[in-house]
Amino acid sequence: MVYLNQAATTWPKPPCVLEAHASALAAVPAGQFRGGAPGQGRDAMDECRNLLGRILGVSDTGNIFFSSGATDSANAVIYGLPLKGGRVLATQTEHNSILRPLMNLKDRVGRVDIVPCGASGRVDAETVEAMLDADTAAVFLNHCSNVTGVIQDVGAVAQAAHRHGALLVLDAAQSAGCIPIEADAWGVDALIFTGHKGLFGVQGTGGYYVRKGVPFSPYRYGGTGRDSRRLTYEAGDYEYEPGTQNQPGIAALAAGAAYVLREGVEQIARKEQALLERLRRGLEALERVRLYGDSGPGGPVLSFTIDGLKPADAAYMLEGAFGIRVRAGLHCAPLIHRAIGTDAWGTVRVSVSNMNTEAEMDCLIEAVRQICSGMEAVHADRG
Ligand SMILES: Cc1ncc(COP(=O)(O)O)c(C=O)c1O
Repeated sequence: MVYLNQAATTWPKPPCVLEAHASALAAVPAGQFRGGAPGQGRDAMDECRNLLGRILGVSDTGNIFFSSGATDSANAVIYGLPLKGGRVLATQTEHNSILRPLMNLKDRVGRVDIVPCGASGRVDAETVEAMLDADTAAVFLNHCSNVTGVIQDVGAVAQAAHRHGALLVLDAAQSAGCIPIEADAWGVDALIFTGHKGLFGVQGTGGYYVRKGVPFSPYRYGGTGRDSRRLTYEAGDYEYEPGTQNQPGIAALAAGAAYVLREGVEQIARKEQALLERLRRGLEALERVRLYGDSGPGGPVLSFTIDGLKPADAAYMLEGAFGIRVRAGLHCAPLIHRAIGTDAWGTVRVSVSNMNTEAEMDCLIEAVRQICSGMEAVHADRG
């Protein structure tokens, strides 16, 4: 199997991740505040927060909280920020994990206005600025599009948001571990991430960060294993990780984050960009193939379509006949397809990780070439 669906979940995982997960499961359980030997429980979770802080550019790692992934984090952040009644902006590139909570948590969010992106999926800070007003509580920005791979200028959008008194919430689901992130330096107020993509953790892990000083309240309450007699909390004095934590998952996430730091995020970004550049050049040479996004350095995602073939059929053929796994359709980001012109059927999405190789890119190019020439042959026959 040539696995090129890394933007969904990375595979294979580095061996250190498999080992960390297995040994956490094999060890005597230790919870966050429920006892355990040094190096287990809280210590291990804080160590994971420190590693994540280095990847996300966050120095206040105590304000990084674990969750079951970006979707869980988006719900926590949208529920917890002071958005009530306010208007929010979300870009046309957002994933449904942002759009759906924004549009359905109606008692927390007022009006949602969509900031349009260009034909490659790029959002201009000037466009955001022109739409901001005194009633805007927050701007939601997808750092790296999971459809076109386009990377947004987070610092410029954050500055625009702050000039109008709005918060900047960054969805780093596709960028964490793949593209350098400087949340503190860019002025990010809240950030969501997931564990099982570029951070090489397991499914069902992730988290969010909220800058100190930003008013925030929890959307879940429960046991934390300490201060058990206390039943109510005052504003600003909450605990955000109630319930038994996914300790094996967090151990795997720490191992994945440590792997990313050892390899170096910039080195990973360079490798992934080089792989996609090779793919882009190969696919560009094929007449029936249309590429989306732009050719500038982007995230580890590339979308294409083949004229005359639905993306779902192309993906079916790639897997069935060539053993290549990609993903077809709208990729849970419905609005961006209007901008890039793929609203009807979506795209074929190829996504790579640090584990993929040039040979795999060549294999995909050859498979697409064969599909295209098969179509030419059928066309000629009918003609
Ligand atoms: C940009 C973006 N945001 C959020 C998510 C949701 O991540 P998860 O499914 O881990 O909650 C994804 C997943 O594909 C994504 O691509």
